[in-house]
Amino acid sequence: MHGRLGILTRRLSIVATASLVAGCNWSQSILAPRGSHAETIDILSWAFFIGGGAILALVAGCLAAAILLRRELTAWMANNNFIIGLGIVFPVITLTAILTFSAVTSRAFLTAEDAKIRIEVIGEQFWWRVNYLDGQGKPAFATANEIRIPVDTPVEFILKTQDVIHSFWVPNLAGKLDMIPGRINSITFAATAPGIYRGQCAEYCGAQHALMAFYVVATSQAEYDAWLAQQSGDAPEPASPFLAQGQEVFLASGCGACHTVRGTPANGLLGPDLTRVGSRLSIAAGTYPVNVGTLAGWTSSAQHLKPGNLMPSFGNLQGEQLRAVAAYMESLK
Ligand code: CUA
Repeated sequence: MHGRLGILTRRLSIVATASLVAGCNWSQSILAPRGSHAETIDILSWAFFIGGGAILALVAGCLAAAILLRRELTAWMANNNFIIGLGIVFPVITLTAILTFSAVTSRAFLTAEDAKIRIEVIGEQFWWRVNYLDGQGKPAFATANEIRIPVDTPVEFILKTQDVIHSFWVPNLAGKLDMIPGRINSITFAATAPGIYRGQCAEYCGAQHALMAFYVVATSQAEYDAWLAQQSGDAPEPASPFLAQGQEVFLASGCGACHTVRGTPANGLLGPDLTRVGSRLSIAAGTYPVNVGTLAGWTSSAQHLKPGNLMPSFGNLQGEQLRAVAAYMESLK
């Protein structure tokens, strides 16, 4: 019994430490709102938490008084007025107030400002396809697992899924919205401060649901424009013989059947667009940082690192081929 209690307290302390650490860097936290919707959610949460806490204290106080005090001192509790007042009138008034407050406050989610930018995000097993849309609503260019937006600009996210239900959630910026097969959901919000905000799939979608994360990078308008210009063009040409060898391995190994690298014969659509993969913060949907080592590891052992994802492990590549192909991908920025 003592042993089990020990394990439980250790687990609880690990969870508490993890939440503290997550809370301290604020990179994925509802307690650090940096978006128009998140600020509203923050206000609602604190109002409910403080209000609910006060009511709990009141009820617990009455209960404690009824149990602990002598009967003469608590006779007033048996009074009809007290029972009707605190048992019926008080809940009706508070619940109506809460409902009204919540309905009025959360109108901010519906009366969205006009979106300046429209981005289609498609949930896949287990990553995020991100299409920046042009004025006609057609994909202008694609990226993956990372969304760049300028601050203080309303952005419409058009949410779809390729397979099962996923849920789009960036706690610092907005609430969750599900991606449902056969439906298109849309949510419009703005980031109110520059920063890197981690998002996470919030609906169990299969074996690698836990490793389905992404980043929203909010920057100044100028930085965003520069990023846009860089991303929307073709991939850079290999700048050295070694990188050219990497491109050759990439194309010869059939990577182009699933991945697109714009400006090369690789035009597959099954997997993430890799045109600028070297410029991203992560590969495998927030699982690893981008560098030659992780790219090589992922290419040779994708099934070992994230079992059940759709990328096969290319364990057949020899050391130099693997180094070259990883260096080529890292150079795509
Ligand atoms: Cu996608 Cu959980």
